[in-house]
Amino acid sequence: MNDLLVFNIGQLVTNDPEHSEMLGTVVDAGVAIVDGLIEWVGADAEVPGRYRDLLRLDAGGAAVLPGFVDPHTHLVFAGDRSGEFDRRLRGESYEQILKAGGGILSTVEATRAASEEQLFDEAAARVWRMMANGTTTVEIKSGYGLDAETEVRMLRVASRLGEMLPIDVVPTFLGAHVVPTELRADRDAYVDLVCGPMLEACAPLARFCDVFCDDAAFSVAESRRILEAARSRGLDVRVHADQLGRVGAAALAADLAAVSADHLDFATTEDLALMRSSGTAAVLLPAVSFSMRLPYSDARLIWDSGVSVALATDCNPGTANVESMPFVVTLAVLNMGLTADEAVWAATRGGAIALGLDDRGHLIPGAIGDLVILDAPSHLHIAYRPAADIVAAVVKRGEIL
Ligand code: NIG
Ligand code: FE
Repeated sequence: MNDLLVFNIGQLVTNDPEHSEMLGTVVDAGVAIVDGLIEWVGADAEVPGRYRDLLRLDAGGAAVLPGFVDPHTHLVFAGDRSGEFDRRLRGESYEQILKAGGGILSTVEATRAASEEQLFDEAAARVWRMMANGTTTVEIKSGYGLDAETEVRMLRVASRLGEMLPIDVVPTFLGAHVVPTELRADRDAYVDLVCGPMLEACAPLARFCDVFCDDAAFSVAESRRILEAARSRGLDVRVHADQLGRVGAAALAADLAAVSADHLDFATTEDLALMRSSGTAAVLLPAVSFSMRLPYSDARLIWDSGVSVALATDCNPGTANVESMPFVVTLAVLNMGLTADEAVWAATRGGAIALGLDDRGHLIPGAIGDLVILDAPSHLHIAYRPAADIVAAVVKRGEIL
């Protein structure tokens, strides 16, 4: 059925651009969802009579937001990198561990050895926890296979998660995460493999292609080749850009009119101006800076440059073993320089824009009926009460989870 009337909403964040204020807030509001889509939004006292017979959900005067859209995760993986985490706490760097064959490469080894069922079960547990924290749409990257067979297995798991669980999944092919151990001496052969047989096998299973463009991973020239090959197979592109240093990845993303450039820890004003012109969104990942004890990207500079900003967990076993979007919002507000309004917008509408999705991230007629009821009177409480269990209920396409 997926018909629902949510009423007695104290503060409704719609992100409706028709309102003068960014969050499009409506006080004392109601929302009617019919067939999984939002049909009506307005004042609680004015709910049209035709919705009076729908299944009713009393928000108890609390705040309601659009469901969180998490546009950057690596949540399909096997293994555990807590030992590496401990080594980093003792002073080794991420790059040192990766160069010595650990880091991403150790997750590749564990993921190649795992069955599809094992990968599915472990990832499903993560996705259920994400949904409990209010995420209703999630992007999932491959990139821990680095051979055609395992990359395909990861993407199949990602798609099945979207089919079996009440969440929408956007699958991304990230064959160019790093060069696998067996081809270290011949990286050109690996780029050929990614652009050829691997892309051929993975493109039908993915919506986007991503490349980790950095000193420790792929050069700008290699990344361009891979992303252009992906585009010729019908995939849109996004880039892990300038995370560990400024290599020109954000400029490449802009030049290719990528949907998003992610991380951007070293991007400059010139890079941001290019991204603004190309309509490339910025996906910021404060949980990485937090978990790695590294400086945060300059979210203020990025927001004020006029590019569209999104927030994501980057959920992965290495740099951010984080599943909660409210926690990411908290970090963005307390440590990265966004206001609470900006962070909430970036975690909802911003995420949808960074995935090229116009049907969500806002609560307006015609949008998908995905929303979160907070255990709080306002969105300000997300950062005001860090690590509180702030999500009281989640509605996915009109269904109460
Ligand atoms: O987004 N930067 C590359 N990829 C991930 C880390 C993956 C890992 O360490 O396993 C990231 O930070
Ligand atoms: Fe990432």
